Amino acid sequence: MSSKVKKIGVLTSGGDAPGMNAAVRAVARSALAKGIEVVGIRRGYAGLLSGDVFDMSLRSVSNIIQNGGTTLYTARLPEFAQDAVQNKGVEKCKEYGIDGLVVIGGDGSFRGAAALSAKGIPCIGIPGTIDNDISSSEYTIGFDTAINCVMEMVDRIRDTSQSHERCSVVEVMGRRAGYIALQSGIAVGATCVLIPEVPMPYENIIQKINDSRATGKSHFIIIIAEGVGGTQELTRKIEEDTGIVSRCTILGHVQRGGSPTVRDRVTASQMGNHAVELLAKGIGNRVVVIQNGKVTDLDIQQALAMKKEFPMDLYKMSYDISI
Ligand code: ADP
Ligand code: F6P
Repeated sequence: MSSKVKKIGVLTSGGDAPGMNAAVRAVARSALAKGIEVVGIRRGYAGLLSGDVFDMSLRSVSNIIQNGGTTLYTARLPEFAQDAVQNKGVEKCKEYGIDGLVVIGGDGSFRGAAALSAKGIPCIGIPGTIDNDISSSEYTIGFDTAINCVMEMVDRIRDTSQSHERCSVVEVMGRRAGYIALQSGIAVGATCVLIPEVPMPYENIIQKINDSRATGKSHFIIIIAEGVGGTQELTRKIEEDTGIVSRCTILGHVQRGGSPTVRDRVTASQMGNHAVELLAKGIGNRVVVIQNGKVTDLDIQQALAMKKEFPMDLYKMSYDISI
């Protein structure tokens, strides 16, 4: 069956995530295999507007699957929420002959993709963020690499925390979501996991430390999501109120880099391929998601309106076994 589109553009937008390169590679290779031309657009919507566009061949995406970050670079362009700026985006697509666009990013990027779709350029979104906080998808590209990085880093912190019998408070990424904190907190055996979704009174944190101290525990790991805030102040107060020497580590952007795990490479490849299948059929305004463990797709507006249920059972389990 011949493709409904002749030339696909691909861009990455918003925060980068390990695995984005695997998605770009899969988009390029899947499209070229169908005889569809492919252009890479550098620096997200900003690059679309400035014409930072280049032809992609099979070899343009060689040797990138193992790299973190995004070879297409990424950018934030808040003005893209404006109608007039989106119209310029449409003009640019027409100028370059782009009749289908794959946007790899988060919910913000998908809003741009929905706007372009409504204006006649079929777009497909692919969820990429280490935070795993995209409402419509059970999984987002980059999450597995990020939580494995946190686990490795906190295991190292634990070595020294245990030797000195200290309390280590470790802040992990997640401005609005506690998925990274929860999964990594379970994996490192944290005494306490603090996340924006479930506020924990300060007294409970001290209680948990004291309860485990009473059973013979002599070092403590507290994982706190960035979105909770006040990490340094919390560390100071724990030391003051328990007498346990406490140290604070803010892991920061180390969590967003690094070679993607198998899960991220494979999921990104599947999603990139699925996006091209849709565009080739002339289908746009969809976001590729994981539902019930399978790759599928949803209408972008419907996807944006969804609410992701936080795994409270997992949180409760983590609370119960951390003593
Ligand atoms: P993410 O895609 O990871 O959620 P952002 O929220 O920063 O990251 O959005 C990335 C980019 O998507 C923005 O810089 C902007 O170019 C575009 N974008 C965000 N919100 C909208 C919107 N409401 N309409 C159109 N484009 C948007
Ligand atoms: O990509 C998601 C994220 O890593 C958040 O967890 C974090 O708050 C934010 O991006 C940081 O973004 P920036 O690097 O632009 O400050």
